[in-house]
Amino acid sequence: MPLLLDASRPEAIEQGARRLADGGLVGLPTETVYGLAADADNASAVRRIFEAKGRPADHPLIVHVAADAPRAAIDHYAREVPAFAERLIAALWPGPLTLILPRRAEVAAVAAGGQDSVGLRCPSHPVAQAVLRAAAAHGVHGVAAPSANRFGRVSPTSAAHVMEEFAALADDALLVLDGGACPVGIESTIVDCTRGHPVLLRPGVLTPARLEAIAGQPLRARDGAAPRASGTLESHYAPRAKVRLMDARQLRAAFQVLGEDARHIALYARSPIEAARGAPRRRMPDDAEAAARELFAVLRELDATGVRLIWVETPPDGPEWDGVRDRLSRAAA
Ligand code: TXA
Ligand code: MG
Repeated sequence: MPLLLDASRPEAIEQGARRLADGGLVGLPTETVYGLAADADNASAVRRIFEAKGRPADHPLIVHVAADAPRAAIDHYAREVPAFAERLIAALWPGPLTLILPRRAEVAAVAAGGQDSVGLRCPSHPVAQAVLRAAAAHGVHGVAAPSANRFGRVSPTSAAHVMEEFAALADDALLVLDGGACPVGIESTIVDCTRGHPVLLRPGVLTPARLEAIAGQPLRARDGAAPRASGTLESHYAPRAKVRLMDARQLRAAFQVLGEDARHIALYARSPIEAARGAPRRRMPDDAEAAARELFAVLRELDATGVRLIWVETPPDGPEWDGVRDRLSRAAA
């Protein structure tokens, strides 16, 4: 079993930082989801992340940097930072925003999965920041951390989820810092800044309108030439049960036809819908932020009931729902 430490104890932060500096793996809370962290400049430590996740080595990882000296960290990893990216950094870091920047050829090649770019993010979670600061004192410039789940599965939003994902690892192979439930709940928004204009690679809780207003430039959608990003694979974030998205009318009709035969179908919906008696169900919040916060925990919870199917009411159309809609459609793909 991985070693689980309460992150509110100061010695836990120092222990996490030491593990990172020694080339070990740390399960780390961020405001979005938990990350599986290693020193981004230590190739063998980073390879251990790919191994533990079962993630292909050509899927690049995000490098996390401390908020007290972001300039030094940015300059360590990035070759250049376009003006619109500087504006996004100034306004939104620390926070749930990852920027893809041209990478200095000599750094973090393994973490970057062979790309000539690097994904940089400055998380706002106090535990993540405390660990990044303490690790920096041991000479760690940045921490590579994908979501702390096995490849293709639902991202973890609690320390218990991380323990579940990596239960097979020994206590000297992974230290997990418990910082409670993640307040955002879905992964960071990713903006590619290597093409002369901002390109949205993965929607999150920051709306396109807000990003455009800050960048001072229109945000383009990704095209086929965009770099590889597992978070942009069509099927990802998937529970074991099959997820299907339907609107309220379709759901009502389907449950009516199936009657008691639907008792092995879980339901996650905002609208009042009559599902089978006794079937697992959760109510989706009407507020997009609240829905994002609980989304992955609810999918795990419904999955754990052993149902074969999870039927989910299609989220509303508004841009504030982009992130939730994106994760649900990938879970359903
Ligand atoms: O909120 C988050 O971003 C979380 C927390 C832990 O920070 N991390 C996360 O990492 O979601 P991961 O590895 O599960 O997803 C990162 C995404 C992947 O789709 C990856 O391919 C993409 O970022 N990415 C990273 N570096 C990239 C690069 N240089 N070019 C293109 N995509 C990149
Ligand atoms: Mg992930």
